[in-house]
Amino acid sequence: MNLIRLQTVDSTNEYLKKGAFPDGTVVFSDEQTAGKGSNGRSFLSPSGGIYFSILFSEPKREVLPYITPVAAVAVRRALASVFNARPEIKWVNDLYLSGKKICGILCENVSSGVIIGIGVNVSRPKEGFPPELRDIAGYVSEKSPTEEEKLTFVQTVSETFFSLLSLPHSVLAKEYRSHSFVIGKKAVLTRGDETFCGVVKDIDEEFRLILTTEKGDETFFSGTLRLI
Ligand code: BTN
Repeated sequence: MNLIRLQTVDSTNEYLKKGAFPDGTVVFSDEQTAGKGSNGRSFLSPSGGIYFSILFSEPKREVLPYITPVAAVAVRRALASVFNARPEIKWVNDLYLSGKKICGILCENVSSGVIIGIGVNVSRPKEGFPPELRDIAGYVSEKSPTEEEKLTFVQTVSETFFSLLSLPHSVLAKEYRSHSFVIGKKAVLTRGDETFCGVVKDIDEEFRLILTTEKGDETFFSGTLRLI
């Protein structure tokens, strides 16, 4: 693994955008000063977390729709094997533990491929979470991870991600679905200016969310899901 290890950076995704790096390069930082979240939001990245980005140069066209959910499967596996944690997946790109978000994933398309950015709250930030995140954000362990654990985690996610891609997507979707906690729950899905209210019926073989609404079943590739 070509690893770039940093103590601090604005954003590991942005770091990868600024240079020419080989496929599979991983940039890993202890904190970010301008962490980026989904939908243009910021992602609070204090020390105590693991923030890293993987460069996936020239992915095959057919894997493009699956990159984010497959990354979620890789992170879930690595959290289980390295930190003995049992997080669940919230469609499409979040991991939760005991009802709180512990990981977010932001994939960005760049000219050379895709950057997969992963932020995990491993331990409680020194200052705690700000009031607005206290009920929402969780962390993996009371214990601070060692440098060796952090490196093993980052390496495991990266290797697992690339090896999973050779499996049929239906197999991966089965694993993704089996660790998902949204099926059967009432939810609101926001996609652009539109909102859809209903009950999550299923996640299909292509990681699409099926929501049963007043108008019948609707299928989504993307969107922000909020359980109600
Ligand atoms: C989200 O949940 O909104 C997605 C958060 C993604 C955060 C990660 S941390 C590493 C990488 N660098 C960033 O600036 N963002 C991603």
